[in-house]
Amino acid sequence: MLRKINIAVLVSGGGTNLQALIDAQGSVITSGKITLVVSNNKDAYALERAKKANIETAIVLRKELGDKFEDKLIETLKEHNIELIVLAGFMSILSEKFTKTFEGRIINVHPSLIPSFCGKGFYGLKVHEEALKYGVKVTGATVHFVNEIPDGGKIIMQKAVEIQDGDIPEILQKRVMEQAEWIILPKSTEKVCKELLKKD
Ligand code: GAR
Repeated sequence: MLRKINIAVLVSGGGTNLQALIDAQGSVITSGKITLVVSNNKDAYALERAKKANIETAIVLRKELGDKFEDKLIETLKEHNIELIVLAGFMSILSEKFTKTFEGRIINVHPSLIPSFCGKGFYGLKVHEEALKYGVKVTGATVHFVNEIPDGGKIIMQKAVEIQDGDIPEILQKRVMEQAEWIILPKSTEKVCKELLKKD
């Protein structure tokens, strides 16, 4: 059997991006396999999605672990021989210690065209609220490598989405997910897995 990259998906909420990754396995994603889903929120619906797909789950809580949170995260990922970490709606900023441990092996999906509407404080619905407030006519999503600067790593893929008259943040968020995030996240994951396999 062909060797596949061991992927962990880190989540915090609904997990529609995780679902897009699960659904892309065997079609868009052929060079990697999701072997672990880690949540920093025990009530995340994403955990149910993982269980339905028979993917092992782990819960790592910052409020229980305090400054040992990242150590536990690193330990869990290493125990599972994870080679690529996909942040899919993971609402916790990771320190340089974490990003250096997995350098070149962490990617994130962000719901805007970076460098617009990104960085500390820009996450989830807030990103779309700010885009509408500014009055931009085009937004989109970005998948990028993760380094110590929030949303600051090298861009892997972007896709633009048009803003329509009368948009509200919730409607725009859904359009950006459907037309951009759920497409470029699986494609980027496959691209990075392929590149990692070349390093074998
Ligand atoms: C997605 O829109 C994702 O891009 C965003 O949170 C949402 C999670 O939805 N992530 C960020 O804002 C990170 N800065 P999901 O749980 O349904 O995938």
